[in-house]
Amino acid sequence: MAKLAVYPGSFDPVTNGHLDVINRASKLFDTLVVAVAINAAKKPLFNAEERVALVKRACDEMGLTNVRVEYFQGLLHEEVRKLNANAIIRGLRAVSDFEWEFQMALMNRELDENCETLFLMPSPKYSFVSSTMIKEVAMLDGEVSKFVPEFIAEELRKRTSK
Ligand code: PNS
Repeated sequence: MAKLAVYPGSFDPVTNGHLDVINRASKLFDTLVVAVAINAAKKPLFNAEERVALVKRACDEMGLTNVRVEYFQGLLHEEVRKLNANAIIRGLRAVSDFEWEFQMALMNRELDENCETLFLMPSPKYSFVSSTMIKEVAMLDGEVSKFVPEFIAEELRKRTSK
């Protein structure tokens, strides 16, 4: 049976670290669904449609043909069930990510016992890269093109220029 995994996240915006995880996961599953979370409590720089479009373009540029990009609202385990997914993928950049990720994985499995989470480690060269930090650097006119695809660096420049 074809195996499908879901990689959920805020992706505001997607970074080279996320793309490294997407690339690795796409090789392990027949289909990977990147699920962009709509969280009313957060104030993202890019709205859900924009975040989806940025991930889609980045995946197209990487030639990843088995990756779908969608958005979701509400509980992740419900999305997992809806998609009939075999696993949730999350990236672990460093040990400091582990505690929160471990808690989330167990909560999701408590909510649905079939909800398994698999952790993938991106290349250590991305261990310090986060969307939050990239936005802060961009807001302060710093150079972010090493951490995101060039078209996203350009979007960040436009978005954050005064
Ligand atoms: O990129 P992020 O912000 O670390 O992603 C977090 C995300 C979106 C995966 C997480 O907040 C999530 O799963 N949200 C959906 C709500 C949910 O299911 N919460 C209960 C399980 S922790």
